Amino acid sequence: MSGELSPIDKAKFVAAKRAVDFVEDGMRVGLGTGSTAAWMVRCLGELVREEGLKIKGVPTSTRTAQLARDCGIQVISLDEAKWLDLTIDGADEFDGDLNLIKGGGGALLQEKIVATASDQMIVIADVGKEVERLGAFPLPIEVIPFGWQTTKTLVEEMLISLDVLGRDVTLRMNGDRPFITDEGNHILDLHLNRIGNARQMAMVLNQVPGVVENGLFIDICDIVVVGYGDGRVEVRDINQGTVEKDRLDFTESDNLFSDLME
Ligand code: 5RP
Repeated sequence: MSGELSPIDKAKFVAAKRAVDFVEDGMRVGLGTGSTAAWMVRCLGELVREEGLKIKGVPTSTRTAQLARDCGIQVISLDEAKWLDLTIDGADEFDGDLNLIKGGGGALLQEKIVATASDQMIVIADVGKEVERLGAFPLPIEVIPFGWQTTKTLVEEMLISLDVLGRDVTLRMNGDRPFITDEGNHILDLHLNRIGNARQMAMVLNQVPGVVENGLFIDICDIVVVGYGDGRVEVRDINQGTVEKDRLDFTESDNLFSDLME
């Protein structure tokens, strides 16, 4: 089965596999959303089932909650956990300061709450997600449905004064209907191409009435585990200023792949 994995899936898998090394018995762990995070949930599930790892998982979406339960991970709410030891999640982009764009999967609100409520956030990503400057990936913002068109206009007006290379704002669709988040909100995607000052953008966006949260994660991520299609992984720790290099074998975990389709 592993022979059928694309290089990008191998990169996601090795990043996920390396990241679960950080999880210890008794931890309360935030479980991210997306295809890379799904590998991580599978890897954690394997440790729970086969090595007796005892953890409680706080999922960041209904999709992840279902997958975690299917994998044998005990799922609790953030209110039950109150505080988390660690969150492991994917990202759409990360830069050299480990600032992120997230929300490609539409789960940015729960993801940001959960990551912020954690002692440590580890991002897992294939190397293609690394950028010099954030913004090539459209920046998602979650907005409440009431008056969303007015909110969109206000966001467009706000963008005029900011250092960006594009200003198109689109409503995310799911077929012919607006995409609905787990909180019942909509997502606006901001096609900015390049964000000159991500910190300023993150603060200003949340001042617009109707915007619930934006997909910029500034100073939240502590470690990024970068996966490569040939099995190499790098663990970059922004606080320690260290980079550890490793290489993982695909064959040992073939049983994880058989029904993972995301
Ligand atoms: C979901 C996210 C995901 O982490 C992000 O979109 C990356 O997804 P993938 O691992 O599938 O590339 O932020 O809201």
